[in-house]
Amino acid sequence: MRHLLSISDLSAHDAIVILDTAAELERVSDGQVKKLPTLRGRTIVNLFAEDSTRTRISFEAAAKRLSADVINFSAKGSSISKGESLKDTAMTLQAMGADAVVIRHSASGAPQRLADSQWMTGSVINAGDGTHEHPSQALLDAFTIRKHLGKGGSNLAGIKVAIVGDVLHSRVARSNVLLLTLLGAHVTLVAPPTLLPVGVESWPVNISYNFDDVVAGVDVVMMLRVQQERMSDLFFPNAREYSRYFGLNLQRLAKMQPHAIIMHPGPMNRGLEIAAEVADSARSVIVEQVANGVSVRMAILYVLLAGAPLESESKL
Ligand code: NCD
Repeated sequence: MRHLLSISDLSAHDAIVILDTAAELERVSDGQVKKLPTLRGRTIVNLFAEDSTRTRISFEAAAKRLSADVINFSAKGSSISKGESLKDTAMTLQAMGADAVVIRHSASGAPQRLADSQWMTGSVINAGDGTHEHPSQALLDAFTIRKHLGKGGSNLAGIKVAIVGDVLHSRVARSNVLLLTLLGAHVTLVAPPTLLPVGVESWPVNISYNFDDVVAGVDVVMMLRVQQERMSDLFFPNAREYSRYFGLNLQRLAKMQPHAIIMHPGPMNRGLEIAAEVADSARSVIVEQVANGVSVRMAILYVLLAGAPLESESKL
């Protein structure tokens, strides 16, 4: 495997190799020596044409822990904000000898375009493209779920996950639906009808418009950010109404099973999709998701740039 563009490129075996590698790398990072020499002399470019906190610093930390050289490059302050095309940017990266480009872009399909082009020869890793996919986030979410609820096996067979909120604009939801179902979990999407995408009936999920019906029966409640920056119309009457029907508050937390966990990819709108007390509660694994992100992104870089070939390679 050379690129990570979409979860649909992975077999269950591929995903498990990445998750197992992440577990192995986490053990190393917990030890005295945080840094491995694996990617010494390799250059990884973080090309972020859309805002990011967690994903960008997490990929940077991951690359540095594997001893790669990292170049950070964001739209603000670069020629992308002067309207430079993806092609010209890519050719610049190629000229600088980038072995991998981690790209976040507001256009769905931009990472694929880069990977399909002759503009550069390195690996392309999708760090979130428009409303399409965010595969590294799904992998870190699966890693976090497995750590808390995995029953010793490597997959997520039978685990029940509710993904709640703005599914329409969420690349996190798309990648998670693909990966969690690939690994055997059962996914229920909970959202107002206006925040579900056209064609969602064909996704391998259950759909509910009633959070209270679902919250008591699941092992994982994954909240999504209301993505106001992607909303040109009004998708719900007002914030108070949204919180009342689709927010995770203390009343709903009280209905959850004792072992169930709360997730959110960040950044959170505290008080809108999740109450502050819930985000900070003992059941929340939101901060841990961020920490796990570093191990999982180390594993992605490791597998793409240094590791053994994955199963999907033989399928090509
Ligand atoms: C997500 C993203 O950018 O898609 N955040 C993240 O990567 N941690 C989710 C979001 O912005 O709501």
